[in-house]
Amino acid sequence: MKKPFIIAIDGASSTGKSTLAKGLAIALDMVYVDSGAMYRAVTFYAQQKSWLTLNGLDEAQLITHLDDIQLSFQQHKLYLNGVDVSSEIRSMEVSNAVSQVASISEVRAFLVAQQRIIGATHSVVMDGRDIGTVVFPNADLKLFLTADAKVRAQRRYKELKEQDTTVSLEQIEANITQRDHMDSTRDDSPLRQAKDAIVLDAMKYNVSEMLQHVLELVKQRKR
Ligand code: DC
Repeated sequence: MKKPFIIAIDGASSTGKSTLAKGLAIALDMVYVDSGAMYRAVTFYAQQKSWLTLNGLDEAQLITHLDDIQLSFQQHKLYLNGVDVSSEIRSMEVSNAVSQVASISEVRAFLVAQQRIIGATHSVVMDGRDIGTVVFPNADLKLFLTADAKVRAQRRYKELKEQDTTVSLEQIEANITQRDHMDSTRDDSPLRQAKDAIVLDAMKYNVSEMLQHVLELVKQRKR
């Protein structure tokens, strides 16, 4: 079997990682894995079980029951124990709590193991926060996307507006700033640029320019 080719895309929230990753997966016939969706699904599960409420998180319950959580991607949809939760995991309720869940080491170990299994057998484009640093430190290509918080909030606002939600730009900006802080200051696998990652300023490119640029980088790596 040919060794799988791995592209790791990291960066803060709403920098356009998933748009780029999806484009690359289609162009290069690779599997796309949205690792953030996995953290969101675990968060949603904890909320459904009432282990995670506005009053706090029962970490012990969540950790004990991690093995009850089955995640699978099918045609870019995420299934949690057989149910498509792709829309539910994008709610503000989940967005506001996901960084807390993602800071739990047991949750990270549980999801990282699954992410590595996918990469062991498939050529994968995976986006997240720790893909180039922790999940696939030997990835064939590592990218780190950056953009100003205001630009990222506008981007997310536009996306959510298309889905007819009533969330305000201010709420989104507050959520992005808070998640950036929590994701980059947690003890386990904080958001960091890998030493060998190529930094891309997402504000310099439109979607298709960014894709073309990265496809060129992939070509160079494959030579
Ligand atoms: O990519 P996203 O914004 O949907 O990710 C949701 C949250 O999950 C994010 O705030 C941090 C966490 N996350 C993480 O800790 N590690 C990853 N590899 C991906 C996401």
